Amino acid sequence: MSSSDPRSEATRDAGAVPRHIAFIMDGNGRWAESRGLPRAAGHGQGAETLRAITRRAVERGVEEVTCYALSTENLLRRPPDEVDGLMELLRLYLARDRSEIDELGVQLRFIGRRHELPANVQADLETAERQSAGHNRMILRLAINYGSRSELVDAARAIAEACQRGELDPRDIDESHIAGHLYDPSMRDPDLLIRTAGEERISNFLLWQISYSELYFAPCAWPDFGPERLDEAIDAYCRRRRKYGGIVSPEVRSAPRDR
Ligand code: IPE
Ligand code: IPE
Ligand code: MG
Repeated sequence: MSSSDPRSEATRDAGAVPRHIAFIMDGNGRWAESRGLPRAAGHGQGAETLRAITRRAVERGVEEVTCYALSTENLLRRPPDEVDGLMELLRLYLARDRSEIDELGVQLRFIGRRHELPANVQADLETAERQSAGHNRMILRLAINYGSRSELVDAARAIAEACQRGELDPRDIDESHIAGHLYDPSMRDPDLLIRTAGEERISNFLLWQISYSELYFAPCAWPDFGPERLDEAIDAYCRRRRKYGGIVSPEVRSAPRDR
C-alpha cells in the first residue's frame, strides 16, 4: 500500500467488503458421489460455481479472488484419469468462459509450478493471461499445480541464487524479499479465506499469505456454494474485528504488510 497514513486505510477498510478473497474449492467429488454421479460431474459443476462466484465477487466490488483449483498433491495422489479430466476441464473453462471474463473485465492469472504442466495447458494459461491482461475490474487467480511449501522453496532458491551472484547480502533479507519471490509478487494478502465442504484445514494453500487472513468454513460442497453463500461469508467477515496483534479498534487495523 502506498498510503503514507495507515489510519486512513484502516478507516476505509472498517466493515468493508474484503479486497481479496481466497477459496479452497473443496467437495466436488462428494457432491457427485452423493448423487450417484462420477467425480468428474462434480468437477464440472464446480466450474459452474466458479463462474457464478466470479460474477458475484465482481458485483460486490472484490478486487482479487484466488482459487485453489489443483494442488501439487492432487497431481501426485489422484488417479491419472481424474487428473487428465481436470486438465481438460481447465482448458474447456478457459476456452468457453473467455467472453464472460471479457464482459466482466476480469484479469486471469495463474500460480503454481506451471512448467510441470502439459505443454498444451501451459500454452492455454499464457494465452489467457495475455488476452485478459488489460482488464482491471478484478483479478481472478487460479492456483494450478500449486503447493505453498513448493512456492516457499522456489522463493528461497531464487533468493539464494541472488546472494550467490552477489546481488543481495543475506543480512539484508527481510519479509519483502520472500513476498517478492512468490509466484505472483503483486498479490495482496487475502483478507478472507473460504473453504467449503466442512473441512477445516489449509491443505498447503498460501501459508505465507494467510498469516492474518480471516478464515471461514462453509459446510456445503463447492458445487452448492452459490452467490448467496458468498454474500453470507462476506457479511460474516464484515462483522469481524481484525487486530493484527494489536488491540481491538477499527481505527488501527491495517495489515502489517500494508504499512
Ligand atoms: C475439490 O474437490 C477439487 C479438487 C481437489 C481438484 P475434491 O475432488 O477434493 O472433492 P472431495 O473432497 O473428494 O469431495
Ligand atoms: C485442496 O483440497 C486442494 C483443492 C481444493 C484444489 P483437497 O481435497 O485436495 O485437500 P485434502 O486432501 O482434503 O486435504
Ligand atoms: Mg477434497
